[in-house]
Formats: sequence, C-alpha cells, structure tokens
Amino acid sequence: MTTADIGLVGLAVMGQNLALNIADHGYTIAVYNRSFERTKDFTAHCAAHEPSHARVLGFEAISDFVKSIKRPRKIVLLVKAGAATDATIDALIPHLEADDIIIDGGNALWTDTIRREKALSAQGFAFIGSGVSGGETGARFGPSLMPGGSATAWASLEPIWRDIAAKVDPVTGKQLDGATPGNPIAGGVSCTAHVGTDGAGHYVKMVHNGIEYIDMQLICEAYSLMKTMLGMNAGEIGKVFEQWNQGKLASFLIEITADILQQTDPADATGNTWFVDKVLDTAGQKGTGMWTAANALELGAPANAIAEAVFARALSALKEERVAASAILKGPSLPVETDRANIINAIGDALYSSKICAYAQGFQLMVQAQKEYNWTLDFGTIAQIWRGGCIIRADFLQKITDAYRNDAGLKNLMLDSYFTNALHDAQNNWREVIALATRHGIPVPAFGSALAYFDGYRSATLPANLLQAQRDYFGAHTYERIDAPRGEFYHVDWPQMPRVQSKM
Ligand code: 6PG
Repeated sequence: MTTADIGLVGLAVMGQNLALNIADHGYTIAVYNRSFERTKDFTAHCAAHEPSHARVLGFEAISDFVKSIKRPRKIVLLVKAGAATDATIDALIPHLEADDIIIDGGNALWTDTIRREKALSAQGFAFIGSGVSGGETGARFGPSLMPGGSATAWASLEPIWRDIAAKVDPVTGKQLDGATPGNPIAGGVSCTAHVGTDGAGHYVKMVHNGIEYIDMQLICEAYSLMKTMLGMNAGEIGKVFEQWNQGKLASFLIEITADILQQTDPADATGNTWFVDKVLDTAGQKGTGMWTAANALELGAPANAIAEAVFARALSALKEERVAASAILKGPSLPVETDRANIINAIGDALYSSKICAYAQGFQLMVQAQKEYNWTLDFGTIAQIWRGGCIIRADFLQKITDAYRNDAGLKNLMLDSYFTNALHDAQNNWREVIALATRHGIPVPAFGSALAYFDGYRSATLPANLLQAQRDYFGAHTYERIDAPRGEFYHVDWPQMPRVQSKM
C-alpha cells in the first residue's frame, strides 16, 4: 500500500527523533533500518509512548519500504557519513523510480554530496544534502536544516522541512520552545531555507560546525581564565555565564555552559564536588571542524581562529605528554588576580570580540567558497536559519542577518557598523585579558588568534613585503612594487644589489 508521505532510513537516535518529529507534524512516515530488530523496537516504543505512533510504519524489506512511499518519493538518510551512506544509496537505487529524491541528513563531506548528486541526477533521481543541526533534541522538536540540491527537489521537500524545522519568533528572532511529543510548535519563522545547489547545504553545515568548534573553545578559555587566574570555582563561574546569557552573549552554548558548571558530582554524596572537575580534559572530534580548517587552507581563506580551535582539541588529546611536560617545562607562577569584577567584565569583552572575529572568518570562508564551487549563498538567510535549532544559535545571529540585509556584498562582518563599534568598544579589555593571560602563562590560543586576525585585517601594511623579498631571494618567485601597477612582477639578482654600508 502506498501511504507514506516520506521515508527514513537509519534508526539511530537522530533518525528516530527526526521520524517522530515528522510524524508529530501529521505526516505518515515509513522507516527502515539495516537491522530489523531496531525497527521493531522503535515501532513498539512508538506504540507504547508516542501520540503519533500510528503514522510511523516500520518495514523489514527495503523493497516494501520504498513501495510504501508516495511518488515522487522522498527518502531521508540518517546513517553514518561516508561508506555507509554510499552503501545505503546503492541498496535503494534498484527500487527507485524517476524523480524520486534521496535526502542525506548526515554530516557528509560536501564534495561527497556533489559527487552523489551528480551520479543520482544522471540516473533520473534527485539528491539533497541537508545539514541537520541541533543534536538529539533538535531532531526531535526542531532542528536547523540546511538543504542543498536542485530547486525542483527542494520544492517537493520544502513543506515537510519547513514544518519540522525549529521556529523562531518573527519579531525577536528567539527560538520558540515548549514542544512536547505530539504537540509541535505552531507558527513562527522556520529555520530552514534552500541554501544552494548540490553540496552547498552540507558545506554550510560544515562551516556551522567550524564555528561551533571556535565558539566552544572561546568559552573554554573564558572559563579557564576565571578558574586559574581568578581562582573561582565551577559554580561561581557558572553564575557568570548565567549572567552573560542575559546580555549580548546570550546563546545556547553559553546557556548549557552555565548549567554544566553548576552541576555537582552525583558520586559525591556531600554535594561538594563540581561535576566538571571530574571530567577528563581531553576533547574528541569527528572531523567537521578539521574539514572547515582544511578547506580554509585550501582556499587561502584566513580562518586562523577556527583552525586554532581544532588544534586546541588536538593538544588537549595529548594528556599523558602534557602531564609529563608539566614537570619539566616551567612557566610563571603568579598569585590570583584580586580585581575580580573588572577582570570578569574584561573577559566577557574578550569573548564577545573574539566571537565576532570567529563568525567573520566563517562567513568570509563561505564568501570564498561560493566563488570556488559556483554557489550563490545568501548570508543573511544563513544567519537566519542558524537563529534556532542549531548548536550555535544565538541572539547575535540576528545582528549578522541585519548586517547582510543592509549590505549583501559586505566584504567582512567586522566592517558592519554594529560589529565595528562592538570591536572598538571591547578591544582594550580584549588586549588586557590576553596580556594578563600571557603573564600568568595560561593558554588562550583562540582569544589570541582572533585578536591577531583583527589586527591583521585592519593593517594597511603587513610585513609580507619582507616575506616576498625572501621568496624572490632564494627562489626567484618575483614580487610586486608599491610604486608600480598591481600585476607587474619583478625579480632582481639579489647578490648584485647595492647595499648600504653600515657605519655602526
Ligand atoms: C550539530 C552538531 C553535530 C555534532 C558534531 C560534533 O550541529 O548538531 O554539530 O553535528 O555534535 O558532529 O562534532 P564533534 O564530535 O567533532 O565535536
């Protein structure tokens, strides 16, 4: 029987939650998983606990699963990125018919998405690579969705994607919360939009994750300064984050940080141990931040703070080496700073300014990428669909939307007057915090590299004149002159050049 509005393959947590989200919006959804046990467990769970259970149909045979979906079929994949995605597509293809659409909701590498889109459209099918952000809760009650693919395929998917995406208030731009099983949010502005063709959606999701990495690292540096330089405990620091979440720094990541820091260890019955102090200081990564940094290197886009955030995780992972080195390599040992209130305020400024630079880098990277990969990205809309549902959701993103709505061709976010003024207002504190951290020997790689980006970008003159001369000296790589038109290249025979005779 052909009854399902949409199908979904891959019933790990993200797949299950997205299926329930779709069913809650009144759609009938067919689900399939490589192991049928998982499908049975899921549908049994739905029957027992989910108001929308009758709209979730489980299938054992992939052929029956595909047949149950109305044409042109829409089949969402939530399987592991990479080989598993290709294997799932290969398993589906023999059962598909003309114009059927596969939607990949995994964290796929955008070049894989370009390849898959090309291969499937050559066979008369369509392929959408859709970024899905917001973790398990987002998938269940409203993720941020970043689809890329043909306009025709998008037109077919759009009503469902708009329904299930996170919603924000049309006036304040704040995420509308409060959905429960069977009761999704009604109204509001949907956090999805057609991002562009082929791999554009997955590319934008990748940059979202690169920004997520640096956003998290900056927060960790602020925490580290309060802990080490000001001698504050986790709970006290959590209160500062709680306060920051009421102002211009308000965001999901600041909110969860405040919450994390105020948790005590359930293993300690006295309630005197902060839980975060029990978590080992080594960070994992699945690769999307690294892809962002690697692509920035490839395109020559200066996303140094994003790369720094990836390296900071790599350094954190060398736990044993760091422990051994700490007994050998000595740094300064200063007493804690006592001007607590002022320094906390300065750290907040450092965090905000660095965050502006990080987002400027992410958007600058997308500006370069759209030229390279032939996309037309709407940056105001991208910031808008990140307002709700995703991990980097923040009030701040409305300012980014406003900046691109004022000037779609904005060269760099830092040049928008709101951000220029914010950087001007905060920079003294920002510099002071980095100087203090340096004196105390506390690593702040993300604060520091964001400041280097700001100082580099605003420098009409950089020492690259000397660098270019060095390149010409040893490799005849040529140089341009300040007193000649751009594009004229010179080379000199360096050993024969006249030298000033030093009188010293
Ligand atoms: C999201 C997250 C999600 C996931 C990252 C984490 O937008 O919902 O970004 O995609 O949490 O993959 O990445 P790491 O494991 O590399 O930190």
